Amino acid sequence: MKFRVALLANLKKNAPVTTEVSSDHWDDLDSESTVEAITEAIRSGGHVCEFLEGDASLIDTIRSFKPDICFNICEGHFGDAREAQIPALLEMLRIPYTGSKVLALSLSLDKPMTKRVLTYHDLPTPPFQVFEREDDVLSEEMTYPMFVKPSREGTGMGVSERSIVNNEAELFEQVAYVLSNYRQPALVEKYIEGREVTVGVVGNLIGPAARRLPDDEEAAHMLAGLRFMPPMEVDLKPFIESDMVYSNRLKVALAAELNYLAPAPIEPALVEELNWYTAAMFRVIGALDVSRVDFRLDIHDNLKPYILEINPLPGLAPKISDLVIEAEAAGISHAELVNMILDAALKRYEMI
Ligand SMILES: Nc1ncnc2c1ncn2[C@@H]1O[C@H](COP(=O)(O)OP(=O)(O)O)[C@@H](O)[C@H]1O
Ligand SMILES: [Mg+2]
Repeated sequence: MKFRVALLANLKKNAPVTTEVSSDHWDDLDSESTVEAITEAIRSGGHVCEFLEGDASLIDTIRSFKPDICFNICEGHFGDAREAQIPALLEMLRIPYTGSKVLALSLSLDKPMTKRVLTYHDLPTPPFQVFEREDDVLSEEMTYPMFVKPSREGTGMGVSERSIVNNEAELFEQVAYVLSNYRQPALVEKYIEGREVTVGVVGNLIGPAARRLPDDEEAAHMLAGLRFMPPMEVDLKPFIESDMVYSNRLKVALAAELNYLAPAPIEPALVEELNWYTAAMFRVIGALDVSRVDFRLDIHDNLKPYILEINPLPGLAPKISDLVIEAEAAGISHAELVNMILDAALKRYEMI
C-alpha cells in the first residue's frame, strides 16, 4: 500500500545558533544528504514522502501535510528528553510514527537510568557511579582504570582519551570537565579494555515477550520478529596510541579513515550471545522497530560482553552510520533498510 510519509529530522544546518551549548552539541543531527537519501528510499518504496523539520514549526507543517505516518529520526535540540519531544507531540496529535516511543527514548538518553534498568534485569553493564558534584565521594567498590563520560550525550560527545582515568587526580579532573562543559552529571564506569562491537536490529518482538533464553522454543518465536544485523566491530588498533575509545573525534572527523569490520570476526556462539543481549536490551527498555546496542568485549575476561548503551534512534547516514554498514554486510541496501524500519512500524500499527 502507498502512504503519505513525513520524514521528521533535525538538520544540522537548521540547528539553533547559541553559545549556551558545547561546541559538539549538534554532532548528533543529520546532514542534508542523509535526509535526501531517506526521502528517496521511502519514495522508492512507492510512498509519497516529504521532509519536515522536527522543531516547533512542525505543529503547523504537519497539519498541512497530513501524513499517514511519520518516519521519525529527530534527535531534538534542548532538554533531557529531547529525543522524546516530537514523539510526544505526535501522540498528542494521534499520528503514527516509526521507532520507539516517549518513555524508551527518554530513558535511553539517560545512561545511568538505563544502567539501573539493566542491573535490575541482571544484564551485564560495567559497574558505575554517578557524580553530580565535584566533591562527591568515590565509592570503595569502584576500581581503576575508570571511564568518565557525560550522562546524557551521544556520538562520543565528551569522550576522548582523557576519559580513561587511572587515579583520583585524573578522575576528578575529568568529572569537573564533564560537569562544567556539559552541565549534567558525569557517569563514571569501570573501564572495559577490549574490542568495540555494535549490533543493530530491525523489527519487533512477537507477543508478550518475557526474559527467556533463545534456545527456548517460545523465546525463539518471539525473537522471530527481529532481524539482527551482523555485528560490526570498530577496528581501534590503528588508534591505540592516541584514541583508545570511540571518541567524538573518531566518530565525526575521522569516520572515513576508520576501519569497520562487518561482520565482526567473532565466533558464532558469541554472535548469538550478543543478539540475545540486544533483544533483551530492546525488550527491557521497550524499544520498537529499530535499535543498535553498543558493547565492549573484555579482552581480560574471555571476551565477556558488556552492554554500554542502546541507541533507539541509530544514525542512518548512507555508508557512514554503523547500522547502515551492518545492513550492507547482510546484503541489505540503505533503501531496503529504511523500508524495513517503515514496514515494522506499519505492521505494528496494523496499517499493512
Ligand atoms: N566503560 C567503558 N569502558 C571502555 N570504553 C568505554 C566505556 N564507556 C564508553 N567507552 C568508549 O566510549 C565510546 C562512547 O561511549 P558510549 O557510552 O557508547 O556513548 P555514545 O553515546 O557517545 O556513543 C564507546 O564506544 C567506547 O569506545
Ligand atoms: Mg555509543
